[in-house]
Amino acid sequence: MSQKPELGQSKQYLIAPSILSADFARLGEEVTGVLSAGADWVHFDVMDNHYVPNLTIGPLVCEAIRSYAVKDGKPAMIDVHLMVEPVDRIIPDFAKAGANLISFHPEASSHVHRSLNLIRDHGCYAGLVFNPATPLDHLDHTLDLIDLVLLMSVNPGFGGQSFIPSTLEKIATLRARLDRHERETGKHIRLEVDGGIKVDNIAAIAKAGADTFVAGSAIFGKPNYADVIAAMRTEVSKA
Ligand code: DX5
Ligand code: ZN
Repeated sequence: MSQKPELGQSKQYLIAPSILSADFARLGEEVTGVLSAGADWVHFDVMDNHYVPNLTIGPLVCEAIRSYAVKDGKPAMIDVHLMVEPVDRIIPDFAKAGANLISFHPEASSHVHRSLNLIRDHGCYAGLVFNPATPLDHLDHTLDLIDLVLLMSVNPGFGGQSFIPSTLEKIATLRARLDRHERETGKHIRLEVDGGIKVDNIAAIAKAGADTFVAGSAIFGKPNYADVIAAMRTEVSKA
């Protein structure tokens, strides 16, 4: 991939529809459609029926949608969320398949620092993902290698679950930590939240400190993606 998409500025709100809830029989069209409806990134959920109790899509599908993931004539971010264990074997395959950002759960790697470096060595942005009950300790020695922190607001494995309210407090704690890190180092790390995000709760999630929002069923479950995305943007602008 010649042009690497940019991560975006601080305070810039980004919407990343999860194609888990898209029509898989028309996936290319769905990806193009949701980006032209105003989405920023494509969130790509990879499940292995081992780390999580579901089985979804892999590098071949990532490669297949790569040419459809275009926004304003430029490659759009393919934001790969690995829910697989282990992670190192599959990371290079996703990089070769055109992924731009690869995130994994620290519980799923025996050597978190090595896995983060592996992602970066393959030219991708790197992220760490925290389940609702996982403490943020893994950030203590990894922040310099991370471009994004993804907080799960549902337990991973399925689309269409309800947002877990205690996530709001975790977002606020993480926001304070990332802001402090940005003041000290000048580096902006994105704070993405995934699971149960809808038009009616996105403002509270933004207000708590998230800047990147994954939404699957809320967008793909409606006939007009542009209407939902516009309503989400109106809500986050209130935060
Ligand atoms: C859950 C996935 C999510 C999910 C979001 O394991 O990581 O990305 O698809 O779906 P909704 O928005 O329907 O909760
Ligand atoms: Zn996800």
